[in-house]
Amino acid sequence: MKRFRGLLSALALVPIFAFANLQVADLSVDQLSQPIGIDNTQPRLSWKLRSDTPSTLQTAYEIRVASPDRAAAGEWWSTNKVDSDQSLYIPYSGPALASSAQYQWQVRVWDNHGNVSEWSTPSQWEMGLLQPVDWKAQWITYPWQEDTEKSQPSPLLRKTFKADGEIARARLYITSLGLYEAFINGERVGDAYFTPGWTSYDKRLQYQAYDVTNHLRAGANAIGVVLGDGWYRGFLTWEMQRNLYGDRLALLAQLVVEYRDGRREVIATDGSWQAGTAEIRASDIYNGELQDLRLRKPDWARAEFGASDWQSARPFTGSVPKLVASASQPVRQVNSLKPVALLKGPGGATIVDMGQNMVGWVRLKVQGKAGQQITLYHTEVLDQQGALYRTALRNAQQRVDYILPDEQLHTLQPHFSFQGFRYVQIDNLPDVKLDDIEGVVLSSDLPQLGRFETSNALLNKLQSNIVWGRRGNFLDIPTDCPQRDERLGWTGDLQVFASTAAFNVDSAAFLRKWLNDAVLDQQDDGGIPNVVPDALKHLRVRSLSTFFVTRGLSSSGWGDAITVVPSALYRQYGDKAALADYYDSMKRWVEYERAGAASFWFTWFNYHNWFDSQRRADDRFIWNGTYTFGDWLAPKPVENTFANTVYFARSAQLLSDAARVLGKSEDEKTYAQLARDIRAAFQRRFMTEDGLFIEDVQGAYVLALQFDMLEPSLRAKAAARLRELVQKDDNHLATGFLSTPHLLDVLTQHGYLDTAYAVLQQQTYPSWLYPISKGATTIWERWGSIQPDGNFGDNGMNSFNHYAYGAVGDWMYRNIGGIQPLAPGYKYFRIAPLPGGDLTSANVSFESRYGLIASNWHKSETGMTVDVDVPANTSAEFVFPIANATLTRDGAPIVVGNGIENIATNATGQPVLKLGSGHYSFSATQQ
Ligand code: BGC
Repeated sequence: MKRFRGLLSALALVPIFAFANLQVADLSVDQLSQPIGIDNTQPRLSWKLRSDTPSTLQTAYEIRVASPDRAAAGEWWSTNKVDSDQSLYIPYSGPALASSAQYQWQVRVWDNHGNVSEWSTPSQWEMGLLQPVDWKAQWITYPWQEDTEKSQPSPLLRKTFKADGEIARARLYITSLGLYEAFINGERVGDAYFTPGWTSYDKRLQYQAYDVTNHLRAGANAIGVVLGDGWYRGFLTWEMQRNLYGDRLALLAQLVVEYRDGRREVIATDGSWQAGTAEIRASDIYNGELQDLRLRKPDWARAEFGASDWQSARPFTGSVPKLVASASQPVRQVNSLKPVALLKGPGGATIVDMGQNMVGWVRLKVQGKAGQQITLYHTEVLDQQGALYRTALRNAQQRVDYILPDEQLHTLQPHFSFQGFRYVQIDNLPDVKLDDIEGVVLSSDLPQLGRFETSNALLNKLQSNIVWGRRGNFLDIPTDCPQRDERLGWTGDLQVFASTAAFNVDSAAFLRKWLNDAVLDQQDDGGIPNVVPDALKHLRVRSLSTFFVTRGLSSSGWGDAITVVPSALYRQYGDKAALADYYDSMKRWVEYERAGAASFWFTWFNYHNWFDSQRRADDRFIWNGTYTFGDWLAPKPVENTFANTVYFARSAQLLSDAARVLGKSEDEKTYAQLARDIRAAFQRRFMTEDGLFIEDVQGAYVLALQFDMLEPSLRAKAAARLRELVQKDDNHLATGFLSTPHLLDVLTQHGYLDTAYAVLQQQTYPSWLYPISKGATTIWERWGSIQPDGNFGDNGMNSFNHYAYGAVGDWMYRNIGGIQPLAPGYKYFRIAPLPGGDLTSANVSFESRYGLIASNWHKSETGMTVDVDVPANTSAEFVFPIANATLTRDGAPIVVGNGIENIATNATGQPVLKLGSGHYSFSATQQ
């Protein structure tokens, strides 16, 4: 009996072990972690499985949701057990969600080994204000008049109130026309900057919700909000025009206090608020900020502040857009840099080198004299004399001024302006110490997903430059550059870079916010504006060139962002809504392209068409385009009509693919046919009789091959020609914005991996690594932003932080790491590293929506080791790079089992394994 009891308890241990091993982690709501203030009434819930048991798949799940009170009482709404392997984006389908309400939720899962997990650690989300009537606040503004042609002092708006009892919970709902920073009892609310963010302000405006429970206290309290011009009414575009969305700043805020005894009180903006100004005398996104600290009112957001001379706020009666909840990560300080050197410029100017081209601002500790005015100028590079190179900024001043109030120590930074810079000249501050300077790096705070490191230091630097380029240009919207008088959401730049961004950071919520504005800004004719939010549309026409940019002409390769970006999000994160939500816009865009191709005038203008009916028929599919940027900044550009037509086919194909995913079979067929028709016309128009192109430049072959414009039988010849052209250029690229992202893919896919590596590792101009030899710490706008002779590229347009050419990062993850999705979101994926060049090792990983995918390889003279991670609830195909290898796992010959589900060999003799979840270490010695 004793022995029997021993056996029983041993058996009992088995399920306990299995139970503990399967876990649910990383719960997210609408792709955000524990969001506050969302307005989606069917939020989509996701989680990850963790398990040490190889080949673990989810077979069922149960979600339960309740308000915290009900959860405590065990009164949950539950899905019950649902047999499904789906662990991503499950729409909440319980009782209606209430405004401002908080919800707790948990998940448990069952797996294919018969295990059931514990309930996950509780996670939560909270709703925003769902109905217009939930807003008790009134829009208010300050009572004074302003000269709105110039930057103006920042208005402060404040209100004191008494909290009468013990506070259980408090929330602040707030937004503004212009930017805001809010304070309660002197403390800043939240850690977000540049709120409420930039949206198409004529169509929609975001509000934010903050948990401010800990800011309040029983008794006297005060709330204060300072406003800045921002994108709403500050200088915008290279025209340096102001007031594009409106000329008056305004505030809407509502503080909801819930007491322990159940009472609820709302302190909302209305005529009882007081208005004044303080030290911020001018602020502007491009130009910088002027703070006269003698005018500082340190206690203005505290109850005890005497504001008897402040004026009463007044209701704002101008037009205000629709309010929407923020649904993406805010801009935050994401990094802090210490300067690396103190330099002397010509004439003895003091210049601080941050060591890194960054975006954000300088936090300066300073002690000086009352009335002393300190000026900071920011640039990305120094000129050949060692002075700040301000020409590249065009009209953006990037200048921050502080006038000191006294001889005390002050820590100073701007509020409503950001700078793109590596160098800071500090005027009128003797004895600058590096310890007194901090580089505050600002960016939309997106979780890091990708890691990429190899044995080659230059490639690692390239990766770092890509990462810094993305960081600086994802500041609430994806911008072309962060320094000159532009910083706009150029669609083409994102179109080429989105896939790389999606590897490096979680870009889903951020890019969906931007796409939502693209949809709203889409023109009646289906055109997608060249910049989103479409600030250009709001320019006042003052010159012929402004006349053209305000006309709403959409460039090919730019407007195509509406088909390319959702498709990239779907591929990388597996979220069908990324297609469904933009599908209508994608379709309208493709129809816009079709109309552009079938333009009557273009067809008949060309006299060739008069006598050639095939040409006339083909012209319906050749996008002559009225306006295009083409293969922008290419050393040897592709002809525009050629590039347009490829993009027309690409978008038609992406639309057809999206239709297939969404079950729209008619559209799937229609647009697949359209893509075929375009390809056929394209071949007749652009191919020579011997199967090559009239356009004999790298970009032409790259675009045509990448987007399937050729019959299979002609591809090998075209690819060989591409390689020839690259070799003729001594393994230098000659491509621009549109073709660069695909150059290495095309070479790799057609058997020219060596050439691909030779181009990637090329160090002389033009190439990806060349800028590093000139000290680049971000990706440049031009291959030769600094030319080999040390001179600058075209002064009129020369940014040193432009992410477009960083689009090669996508190839690096998919080929050097070899991590490629075979099903959307990496439910099923391939790991097939392609070592090459002088690389001896690479550590590459991507935190997918299911968990960590890793590919770490090491090559020696005699063989190779590859360590692989496959997350639970996925499976993978692993291709070992060496052909005819005797593969071992942890030193023993590979056998099916323990995660290895199948062993095969491909046509080139490489081992191909089907892997379930788990960690693997494979090696082989070279035969
Ligand atoms: C921007 C680009 C943009 C282009 C349009 C430039 O001024 O900086 O990156 O795509 O205009 O051609």
